[in-house]
Amino acid sequence: MKIDVVPYASAIRPDLIQNRHVVVIDVLRASSVMVTALAHGAKAFVPVRTVEEAGQKAREFSKEEILLCGERDTRVIDGFHLGNSPQAYTRQKVEGKTLIYTTSNGTQALNNLSGAKEVFVGSFLNMKSLVSRFLKLNDAVLVCSGTNNNFSMDDAMCAALFIDEIMKVKPVGLSDFSLTLLKAFQKDKGNLSVLLKDCYHLNLLKNNGFGSDVAYCLQKDILSVLPRMKNGKIVPG
Ligand code: MLT
Repeated sequence: MKIDVVPYASAIRPDLIQNRHVVVIDVLRASSVMVTALAHGAKAFVPVRTVEEAGQKAREFSKEEILLCGERDTRVIDGFHLGNSPQAYTRQKVEGKTLIYTTSNGTQALNNLSGAKEVFVGSFLNMKSLVSRFLKLNDAVLVCSGTNNNFSMDDAMCAALFIDEIMKVKPVGLSDFSLTLLKAFQKDKGNLSVLLKDCYHLNLLKNNGFGSDVAYCLQKDILSVLPRMKNGKIVPG
Protein backbone atom coordinates (compact mmCIF):
# COMPACT_ATOMS: atom_id res chain seq x y z
CA MET A 1 0.00 0.00 0.00
CA LYS A 2 1.21 3.50 -0.81
CA ILE A 3 0.74 6.22 1.83
CA ASP A 4 1.63 9.89 1.35
CA VAL A 5 1.39 12.60 3.99
CA VAL A 6 0.75 16.29 3.21
CA PRO A 7 2.18 18.47 6.02
CA TYR A 8 -0.40 21.33 5.98
CA ALA A 9 -3.47 22.51 4.08
CA SER A 10 -1.79 24.87 1.60
CA ALA A 11 0.75 22.17 0.63
CA ILE A 12 -1.98 20.08 -1.07
CA ARG A 13 -0.85 19.52 -4.68
CA PRO A 14 -3.45 18.55 -7.32
CA ASP A 15 -1.16 15.82 -8.73
CA LEU A 16 -0.77 14.23 -5.29
CA ILE A 17 -4.50 13.83 -4.59
CA GLN A 18 -5.72 13.12 -8.14
CA ASN A 19 -7.93 10.02 -8.05
CA ARG A 20 -6.58 9.04 -4.60
CA HIS A 21 -8.26 8.17 -1.29
CA VAL A 22 -7.70 11.19 0.95
CA VAL A 23 -8.01 11.57 4.73
CA VAL A 24 -8.28 15.07 6.20
CA ILE A 25 -6.85 15.25 9.71
CA ASP A 26 -7.31 18.23 12.02
CA VAL A 27 -7.08 16.70 15.47
CA LEU A 28 -7.28 20.09 17.24
CA ARG A 29 -10.09 20.45 16.54
CA ALA A 30 -12.01 20.39 13.25
CA SER A 31 -11.89 16.69 12.47
CA SER A 32 -12.65 15.83 16.11
CA VAL A 33 -15.67 18.18 15.95
CA MET A 34 -16.97 16.58 12.73
CA VAL A 35 -16.54 13.03 14.02
CA THR A 36 -18.27 13.91 17.32
CA ALA A 37 -21.21 15.81 15.83
CA LEU A 38 -21.91 13.17 13.16
CA ALA A 39 -21.73 10.44 15.82
CA HIS A 40 -24.33 12.46 17.73
CA GLY A 41 -26.78 12.49 14.85
CA ALA A 42 -25.90 15.66 12.91
CA LYS A 43 -27.10 15.32 9.32
CA ALA A 44 -24.08 16.88 7.56
CA PHE A 45 -21.37 19.53 7.66
CA VAL A 46 -21.07 22.08 4.88
CA PRO A 47 -17.41 23.18 5.07
CA VAL A 48 -16.84 26.73 3.81
CA ARG A 49 -13.75 28.93 3.73
CA THR A 50 -15.03 32.24 5.11
CA VAL A 51 -17.48 33.68 7.62
CA GLU A 52 -19.19 35.55 4.76
CA GLU A 53 -19.59 32.34 2.77
CA ALA A 54 -21.13 30.70 5.85
CA GLY A 55 -23.75 33.46 5.98
CA GLN A 56 -24.51 33.05 2.26
CA LYS A 57 -24.81 29.26 2.55
CA ALA A 58 -27.14 29.60 5.53
CA ARG A 59 -29.61 31.51 3.36
CA GLU A 60 -30.09 28.35 1.22
CA PHE A 61 -31.72 26.61 4.22
CA SER A 62 -34.53 27.36 6.65
CA LYS A 63 -33.41 28.64 10.07
CA GLU A 64 -34.53 25.44 11.83
CA GLU A 65 -32.44 23.21 9.58
CA ILE A 66 -28.99 24.65 10.29
CA LEU A 67 -26.47 25.79 12.86
CA LEU A 68 -23.59 28.16 12.10
CA CYS A 69 -20.42 26.66 13.56
CA GLY A 70 -16.66 27.17 13.68
CA GLU A 71 -13.88 29.36 15.01
CA ARG A 72 -11.47 32.15 14.32
CA ASP A 73 -8.37 32.47 16.51
CA THR A 74 -9.71 29.39 18.39
CA ARG A 75 -12.84 31.27 19.58
CA VAL A 76 -16.54 31.21 18.65
CA ILE A 77 -17.39 33.57 15.77
CA ASP A 78 -19.78 36.48 16.56
CA GLY A 79 -23.37 35.49 15.81
CA PHE A 80 -22.56 31.77 15.38
CA HIS A 81 -24.39 29.06 17.33
CA LEU A 82 -21.36 26.89 18.20
CA GLY A 83 -17.58 27.34 18.39
CA ASN A 84 -15.02 24.59 17.91
CA SER A 85 -15.27 22.66 21.19
CA PRO A 86 -16.23 19.10 20.20
CA GLN A 87 -17.97 18.40 23.49
CA ALA A 88 -20.42 21.24 22.80
CA TYR A 89 -21.76 19.24 19.82
CA THR A 90 -24.21 17.24 21.93
CA ARG A 91 -27.02 15.12 20.50
CA GLN A 92 -29.49 17.60 21.97
CA LYS A 93 -27.96 20.45 19.96
CA VAL A 94 -27.01 18.84 16.65
CA GLU A 95 -29.31 15.89 15.94
CA GLY A 96 -30.86 16.24 12.47
CA LYS A 97 -29.11 19.56 11.78
CA THR A 98 -26.93 20.63 8.87
CA LEU A 99 -23.90 22.42 10.27
CA ILE A 100 -22.44 25.26 8.20
CA TYR A 101 -18.82 25.16 9.29
CA THR A 102 -15.81 27.41 8.87
CA THR A 103 -12.48 27.05 10.68
CA SER A 104 -8.98 28.45 10.24
CA ASN A 105 -7.43 25.26 8.87
CA GLY A 106 -9.62 22.14 8.66
CA THR A 107 -12.31 23.57 6.38
CA GLN A 108 -9.61 25.20 4.23
CA ALA A 109 -8.13 21.74 3.61
CA LEU A 110 -11.56 20.25 2.84
CA ASN A 111 -12.15 22.90 0.19
CA ASN A 112 -8.89 22.12 -1.58
CA LEU A 113 -9.46 18.51 -2.59
CA SER A 114 -11.08 18.53 -6.02
CA GLY A 115 -9.95 15.54 -8.07
CA ALA A 116 -9.67 13.18 -5.09
CA LYS A 117 -11.41 9.83 -5.53
CA GLU A 118 -12.86 9.79 -2.01
CA VAL A 119 -12.39 12.04 1.02
CA PHE A 120 -12.69 10.88 4.63
CA VAL A 121 -12.29 12.69 7.96
CA GLY A 122 -9.85 11.16 10.44
CA SER A 123 -8.97 11.79 14.07
CA PHE A 124 -7.76 9.84 17.08
CA LEU A 125 -11.42 9.45 18.11
CA ASN A 126 -12.34 7.31 15.08
CA MET A 127 -8.93 5.80 14.22
CA LYS A 128 -10.09 2.19 14.38
CA SER A 129 -12.90 2.77 11.83
CA LEU A 130 -10.53 4.70 9.58
CA VAL A 131 -7.89 1.97 9.64
CA SER A 132 -10.37 -0.83 8.97
CA ARG A 133 -11.72 1.04 5.93
CA PHE A 134 -8.21 1.62 4.54
CA LEU A 135 -7.07 -1.95 5.08
CA LYS A 136 -9.37 -2.71 2.13
CA LEU A 137 -7.71 -0.05 -0.07
CA ASN A 138 -4.33 0.28 -1.72
CA ASP A 139 -3.51 3.94 -1.30
CA ALA A 140 -3.96 6.83 1.11
CA VAL A 141 -3.09 10.50 1.14
CA LEU A 142 -3.16 11.83 4.69
CA VAL A 143 -3.73 15.59 4.64
CA CYS A 144 -2.61 17.13 7.91
CA SER A 145 -4.49 20.44 8.11
CA GLY A 146 -1.79 22.08 10.24
CA THR A 147 -2.04 25.48 11.89
CA ASN A 148 -2.13 28.65 9.81
CA ASN A 149 -0.25 26.99 6.97
CA ASN A 150 2.38 25.54 9.24
CA PHE A 151 3.09 21.97 10.19
CA SER A 152 1.35 20.87 13.43
CA MET A 153 2.47 17.90 15.50
CA ASP A 154 -1.02 16.80 16.60
CA ASP A 155 -2.10 16.08 13.03
CA ALA A 156 1.26 14.55 12.14
CA MET A 157 1.18 12.11 15.08
CA CYS A 158 -2.36 11.09 14.15
CA ALA A 159 -1.08 10.36 10.61
CA ALA A 160 1.80 8.38 12.14
CA LEU A 161 -0.59 6.30 14.28
CA PHE A 162 -2.60 5.49 11.13
CA ILE A 163 0.57 4.35 9.33
CA ASP A 164 1.73 2.35 12.37
CA GLU A 165 -1.64 0.53 12.56
CA ILE A 166 -1.76 -0.24 8.82
CA MET A 167 1.84 -1.53 8.90
CA LYS A 168 0.88 -4.09 11.56
CA VAL A 169 -1.26 -5.74 8.88
CA LYS A 170 0.31 -5.07 5.49
CA PRO A 171 3.43 -3.65 3.86
CA VAL A 172 3.43 0.10 3.20
CA GLY A 173 5.52 2.25 0.83
CA LEU A 174 6.46 5.49 2.58
CA SER A 175 8.08 8.78 1.54
CA ASP A 176 11.00 10.12 3.59
CA PHE A 177 8.63 12.57 5.28
CA SER A 178 6.11 9.86 6.29
CA LEU A 179 8.97 7.68 7.52
CA THR A 180 10.30 10.53 9.66
CA LEU A 181 6.88 10.97 11.30
CA LEU A 182 6.60 7.25 11.93
CA LYS A 183 10.06 7.06 13.53
CA ALA A 184 9.28 10.03 15.82
CA PHE A 185 5.98 8.38 16.82
CA GLN A 186 7.59 5.01 17.51
CA LYS A 187 10.52 6.48 19.44
CA ASP A 188 8.15 7.61 22.21
CA LYS A 189 6.04 4.45 21.80
CA GLY A 190 3.03 6.45 20.63
CA ASN A 191 2.66 8.17 24.01
CA LEU A 192 0.71 11.29 23.01
CA SER A 193 1.26 13.26 26.20
CA VAL A 194 5.03 12.94 25.70
CA LEU A 195 4.97 13.41 21.91
CA LEU A 196 2.72 16.48 21.96
CA LYS A 197 3.97 18.16 25.13
CA ASP A 198 5.47 21.11 23.23
CA CYS A 199 3.00 21.21 20.33
CA TYR A 200 2.25 24.88 19.52
CA HIS A 201 -1.47 24.57 18.73
CA LEU A 202 -2.11 22.27 21.69
CA ASN A 203 -0.55 24.78 24.06
CA LEU A 204 -2.37 27.70 22.42
CA LEU A 205 -5.70 25.93 23.04
CA LYS A 206 -4.74 25.18 26.64
CA ASN A 207 -3.72 28.80 27.21
CA ASN A 208 -7.03 29.99 25.73
CA GLY A 209 -9.00 27.85 28.20
CA PHE A 210 -9.65 24.83 25.97
CA GLY A 211 -7.64 22.24 27.93
CA SER A 212 -10.63 19.90 28.20
CA ASP A 213 -11.02 19.95 24.39
CA VAL A 214 -7.39 18.86 24.07
CA ALA A 215 -7.87 15.96 26.51
CA TYR A 216 -11.05 14.92 24.66
CA CYS A 217 -9.48 15.06 21.17
CA LEU A 218 -6.48 12.89 22.16
CA GLN A 219 -8.65 9.90 23.13
CA LYS A 220 -8.31 6.94 20.78
CA ASP A 221 -11.14 4.89 19.27
CA ILE A 222 -14.08 6.19 21.29
CA LEU A 223 -16.33 6.79 18.23
CA SER A 224 -16.97 4.55 15.26
CA VAL A 225 -18.36 6.98 12.67
CA LEU A 226 -16.23 7.52 9.53
CA PRO A 227 -17.26 10.84 7.96
CA ARG A 228 -16.86 11.14 4.20
CA MET A 229 -17.41 13.81 1.60
CA LYS A 230 -20.49 13.57 -0.61
CA ASN A 231 -21.41 16.36 -3.02
CA GLY A 232 -19.36 18.92 -1.09
CA LYS A 233 -20.85 17.96 2.29
CA ILE A 234 -19.38 15.83 5.05
CA VAL A 235 -21.82 13.07 5.94
CA PRO A 236 -21.65 10.14 8.38
CA GLY A 237 -20.06 7.02 6.87
C1 MLT B 1 -9.10 24.59 12.53
O1 MLT B 1 -9.74 23.87 11.75
O2 MLT B 1 -8.60 25.60 12.14
C2 MLT B 1 -8.90 24.20 13.95
O3 MLT B 1 -9.72 23.20 14.29
C3 MLT B 1 -8.70 25.37 14.82
C4 MLT B 1 -9.13 25.25 16.24
O4 MLT B 1 -10.08 24.58 16.59
O5 MLT B 1 -8.52 25.91 17.09
